Amino acid sequence: FCQGAEPLVKIAQNGAVVTLTMNRPKALNALNTAIAAELAAALVKYDADSSVNAFVLTGEGRAFVAGADIKMMAPLSFADWHKNDLFIEFEKVRQIKKPIIAAVNGFALGGGCELAMLCDFIIASEKAVFGQPEIKLGTIPGLGGTQRLTGLIGKAKAMEWVLTGKQYTAEEAERAGLVARVVKHEDLLKVAQETAALIASYSQITVALAKDCVNKSLESSLNDALAYEKRSFHATFATEDQKEGMKAFVEKRAPAFKNQ
Ligand code: HXC
Repeated sequence: FCQGAEPLVKIAQNGAVVTLTMNRPKALNALNTAIAAELAAALVKYDADSSVNAFVLTGEGRAFVAGADIKMMAPLSFADWHKNDLFIEFEKVRQIKKPIIAAVNGFALGGGCELAMLCDFIIASEKAVFGQPEIKLGTIPGLGGTQRLTGLIGKAKAMEWVLTGKQYTAEEAERAGLVARVVKHEDLLKVAQETAALIASYSQITVALAKDCVNKSLESSLNDALAYEKRSFHATFATEDQKEGMKAFVEKRAPAFKNQ
């Protein structure tokens, strides 16, 4: 009866930044359908809330997410997955317009590494551990790992990660290009939230265009993505915020963006 008392995703808003904390620490935040649904619902809700400009996603306890829930997946057949994609909710994460920073506090393995890659960039604690260990379980990454990881760290490293299933330190992940920055464990949330607040202070139309353009680089051909970037760049000149941003520079004052 009281099962709903502790949410699977804790939500805290500070100014224009919403921090989402996956909260299934006893199972190292392993992803089941309920946590996926709660996370996607929270992101969709706050994506539509004009008081929110950016997200930080992190995990409670010693894991970010240690993967999809192995106990849940163990008995499933091909037909089960074919009929019912348990992680279909994560399709919604891709559609979120506002930036999402993954603050990776510990294990980010399998679906956890993939969820971190679904975010816009990763800031990692020095204690974070990354990897795609699915091969050790007789399966492969299924939430974009073979694709996004390859885009981020290149074919040679992605092959090694996916085929060996090994774990990698935050420092190795940063060197490989998966992680934007490694910070002291105790500073992780503060750094991630300050970074989100900085992004949240800019024109949100422009932030959304910039995010969209960077994502295009992994999703389309260079020609298409460059054309898309150019049009988006031109489009910023249709905003009041571009006028304000450049005027403020010339007048040597801080800009007051209105998201118009
Ligand atoms: C279910 C999990 C889990 C997982 C950990 N737990 N990972 N439960 N699914 N992915 C549970 C353990 O069963 C245990 O609960 C508790 O969390 C603590 O874990 P321990 O193993 O006791 O901790 P430790 O010895 O410190 O090892 C940590 C670990 C290890 C290295 C992270 O737990 C581990 O290897 N986990 C699995 C990582 C993995 O293979 N992930 C990929 C999953 S496949 P109990 O109650 O038993 O004590 C995947 C596919 C995605 O993600 C694609 C989907 C479409």
